[in-house]
Amino acid sequence: MGEADTVEEEVEAVGSRGDLDADLRRVVADSTVVVTGASSGIGEATARRLGAAGADTVLVARSREPLGALRQEIEGAGGRACSHPADLSDPAAVAELVEDIRQCHGDVDVLVNNAGHSIRRSIALSYNRFHDFERTIDVNYLGPVRLVLGLLPGMRARRRGHVLNVSSLGVLFGAPRFSAYLASKAAFESFLRCIAPEVRGDGVAVTNIYMPLVHTPMVEATRVYRLLPGLTADEAAERICRAVVERPRRVAPALGLMGHLLADAAPAPFDGLLRLTYRWSRDSSAARGEDSDEMEAPAFAQGLLRRLERLGGRRER
Ligand SMILES: NC(=O)c1ccc[n+]([C@@H]2O[C@H](COP(=O)([O-])OP(=O)(O)OC[C@H]3O[C@@H](n4cnc5c(N)ncnc54)[C@H](OP(=O)(O)O)[C@@H]3O)[C@@H](O)[C@H]2O)c1
Repeated sequence: MGEADTVEEEVEAVGSRGDLDADLRRVVADSTVVVTGASSGIGEATARRLGAAGADTVLVARSREPLGALRQEIEGAGGRACSHPADLSDPAAVAELVEDIRQCHGDVDVLVNNAGHSIRRSIALSYNRFHDFERTIDVNYLGPVRLVLGLLPGMRARRRGHVLNVSSLGVLFGAPRFSAYLASKAAFESFLRCIAPEVRGDGVAVTNIYMPLVHTPMVEATRVYRLLPGLTADEAAERICRAVVERPRRVAPALGLMGHLLADAAPAPFDGLLRLTYRWSRDSSAARGEDSDEMEAPAFAQGLLRRLERLGGRRER
């Protein structure tokens, strides 16, 4: 693990891929790195990259098959990986996971808290859905807290470790229709910001990464996101891997930080902008409990968006 901690506010993709791979190898080779949510999307891409850099990669998620396939892929390329299927929303499963990790791998050097569950649903559709708030808090907050409580003592005792959190850009300024999801993400981010100064002196760094839109299975239910610019899972993984090397306090796109500042400096226009995004968008058919391929946009914009989607699809072929 790199000893020189950095405290930059911002780590957007800088430097070349070759440099990053070499730096990553220097930092994680022969270290034990746990990646939660490694069965899909950002976590899968991150675990693949860490495994290629020589980390002893511990893969966590509920789905056994994709975890097993990724383990084989990493091992096939000469790396080391181990699959630990677990449901992070189940307290007993997390306790068992911590025990298994300790027994199989000893103390952990890097924990990438990436597993997550997103819900995009307006509050008007949530009055009878308290379980949305319970589900998000269980997976996005309580499970990760349990994992940190289990793995942190080993990091502090050895005076080396790094806890990373894949948070969301929306946590910086709130976003309509994401009350359940963003509140749970904000809770874990807040937990980590509180413990960071307590553990820093013991060589443990804490990094919150405010991820923008990433095109993964998580956002597929909202069709209109397909038309918005976003990162690929590999690009998101690159941000995480760079943070593993540089150990910053937080990683956020400049646009997100500007939005955060604007929300404080000019609350009225910023609130107006958020109200507009709420009025000009809709709940997805999945969030409404319906089966349709309607775009989440006002009726007058739907035809245009549909044409754009078809155009995008044709270009991809
Ligand atoms: N995609 C975006 O635009 C975006 C933006 C900002 C932040 N993020 C954050 O990025 C992280 C990764 O998301 P993604 O986009 O890569 O989505 P994804 O492809 O849906 O991956 C989510 C991962 O979390 C795991 N997971 C979900 N519930 C779990 C549970 N109860 N126990 C254990 N693992 C669980 C899933 O595995 P199983 O289903 O196999 O358990 C899967 O591996 C999330 O924390 C998300 O909040 C995503």
